[in-house]
Amino acid sequence: MKIVVIGATGHVGTYLVPGLVTAGHEVIAISRQNRKPYSDHAAWKDVRQVVIDRVEADRKKTFGEQIIKFSPDVVIDMICFTPESAKLLAESLLGQVQHFLLCGTIWVHGFSGQVPTVESQPRKPFGDYGIKKAALEEWLLSFSRKKGFPATILHPGHIVGPGWIPLNPAGNFNPEVYKTLMTGKELILPNLGMETVHHVHAEDVAQAFIKSINFRNNAIGECFHVVSPQALTLRGYATAMAEWFGKEPDLKFLSWEKWKKSVSEQDADATWDHIAHSPNCSIEKARKAIDYNPRYTSLQAVKEAVSYLIEHKLL
Ligand SMILES: NC(=O)c1ccc[n+]([C@@H]2O[C@H](COP(=O)([O-])OP(=O)(O)OC[C@H]3O[C@@H](n4cnc5c(N)ncnc54)[C@H](OP(=O)(O)O)[C@@H]3O)[C@@H](O)[C@H]2O)c1
Repeated sequence: MKIVVIGATGHVGTYLVPGLVTAGHEVIAISRQNRKPYSDHAAWKDVRQVVIDRVEADRKKTFGEQIIKFSPDVVIDMICFTPESAKLLAESLLGQVQHFLLCGTIWVHGFSGQVPTVESQPRKPFGDYGIKKAALEEWLLSFSRKKGFPATILHPGHIVGPGWIPLNPAGNFNPEVYKTLMTGKELILPNLGMETVHHVHAEDVAQAFIKSINFRNNAIGECFHVVSPQALTLRGYATAMAEWFGKEPDLKFLSWEKWKKSVSEQDADATWDHIAHSPNCSIEKARKAIDYNPRYTSLQAVKEAVSYLIEHKLL
């Protein structure tokens, strides 16, 4: 099949595009070509790479017609963040494609309630990003039901892979947290360290997109969580990483109000966003409908990413 991937060279595209080519598809990769995939793969030589700035094209309302010109069977949209942008593209593609897949986020759920969270639980998103992603999902799935538009939405957790810093056991992206654990120093966590994070390896996100295409009939009109089999508590994550570094974990705890003053504003904001959501999502629906079978646990994914940082002297 001819597949257009919009936002094709990022965390997920690094695995998704080679995966699609290897599966025998013809791939057209859209980006601004400001960056390269995180790893080389021979499959990229068979990929047609096209420069389009989606923000600019959305502003001119020309994005849909630019995509249709490639006559794709399938379109995968990795970089849609507003209902307006989703609407512009989906309305242009109506009747023109066999399958439209969009990348969402588990942030559509907002605060976790009964866990593991399943896709059918009522959405209570907070924060601009989660609210807009939930709104665009609601619009797209309703468009799918009412007009027969063949849409699927995949909701990844915190995407991890070699080449970038994974979400750390303090719930932010400061690499010093890994150094602290690596050297056996004291790490202070907010509250009791029992709030959760839910990672997923980028390769597993790519797998879910490819399997949604393979199991098209089960995937159309549906959304699926795409996370590792189990979430981690901050305390459990920190302990496992310290032990992996061969150190005794030295963990201390502070109430949120005190903890947030002990770190930079940037780290405190990132941690708050992650622990306020405390995601813990079920993958049963994706397992049953599209045979999603993640290769990585959260810790395996993080350890691979941290090994890369160590090997490349980035830690
Ligand atoms: N990161 C996470 O942990 C996480 C978690 C849950 C959900 N998500 C979702 O994952 C999706 C992002 O996937 P990702 O992490 O693989 O992406 P990413 O690493 O941020 O890469 C973005 C891709 O889109 C391209 N791009 C960015 N702006 C563009 C524009 N204006 N026009 C055309 N191309 C553009 C980039 O290349 P150029 O810069 O060269 O254009 C790159 O290929 C989003 O929908 C996000 O909501 C992410």
